[in-house]
Amino acid sequence: MVAIGYFPTLLKFLSVIGVRMLPLGKHMKVINDTSLSIIKSRREQVQQSHNGNKREDFLQLLMDAEAPDDPDNESSIKASRVLTDKQIVGLCFDFMLAGHDTTSSMLAFTSYLLAINPHEQEQLCQAIDDYYQENEEASLYDASQNIPYLDWVLHESLRLYPPAPNTGRVCNETCTINGVTFLKGFRFDIPILKIHMSPEYWDQPEVFNPKRFSPEGKEGRNPQAYIPFGSGPRSCIGMRFALMEAKACLVSILRKYRLKDHLILRLADHN
Ligand code: HEM
Repeated sequence: MVAIGYFPTLLKFLSVIGVRMLPLGKHMKVINDTSLSIIKSRREQVQQSHNGNKREDFLQLLMDAEAPDDPDNESSIKASRVLTDKQIVGLCFDFMLAGHDTTSSMLAFTSYLLAINPHEQEQLCQAIDDYYQENEEASLYDASQNIPYLDWVLHESLRLYPPAPNTGRVCNETCTINGVTFLKGFRFDIPILKIHMSPEYWDQPEVFNPKRFSPEGKEGRNPQAYIPFGSGPRSCIGMRFALMEAKACLVSILRKYRLKDHLILRLADHN
């Protein structure tokens, strides 16, 4: 997915020779059937449990989603289920795709950047070690929330290699912004990667410099110059989770290992 974002012609190539040869239909069926059987067994469990105990997770929220029968009157008392099982499966699939591929790409790009920038990697490892010296028993979650340099490194990696290099919008109403008129129905692309690499907003945009995201580095910058998770009411809903997951992962790796150009050396082997 990310590769297609960076090299759109790949899609053409894949659709001609690749996708038809891959057993995608078979894989989709497994995901579809597994998700449907989980939904079914959830319903049976709720029916069988005496106190109607339910899990509290994303799937349950989708299964319980309701909307007022009268859409013009949100407070109308009658409400009914809004999502069919097929739609729920589709949304679960979207979540897996939107959440998995993007986060793994962020980690891959960050590891690469740290490997080719050993000075920044050492600074990060030092920040992690300092944190654990003062907070010996800290959980990975706590560490992920309290090491500013880790935050800056990830943001700089997302600037240089945004896993979603573009997003888009459809214009609901004709409007004029900064003298440009957008007609109703107009679809437009928002080139995240191009904005992140624009010399108008970034000094030496091609250079990996995590300090751009320090409080001083951020001062006076147009907030729309950095949008790896999009912007506005339809921005990424997994942002916090993705950053927390990636930070926890990096901390646990860098406490034991150093990333090198094309191999990872165990610190123990090093000493
Ligand atoms: C590094 C990780 C991630 C990146 C870079 C990323 C990036 C994005 C971007 C650019 C958008 C479009 C936002 C817009 O157009 O304004 C988006 C939307 C979305 N993302 Fe993420 N995402 C990431 C991780 C996740 C995770 C972990 C999840 C779920 C667990 C997730 C779920 C979604 C969903 C559901 C949407 C659609 C939101 C909507 O249409 O209202 N993403 N993401």
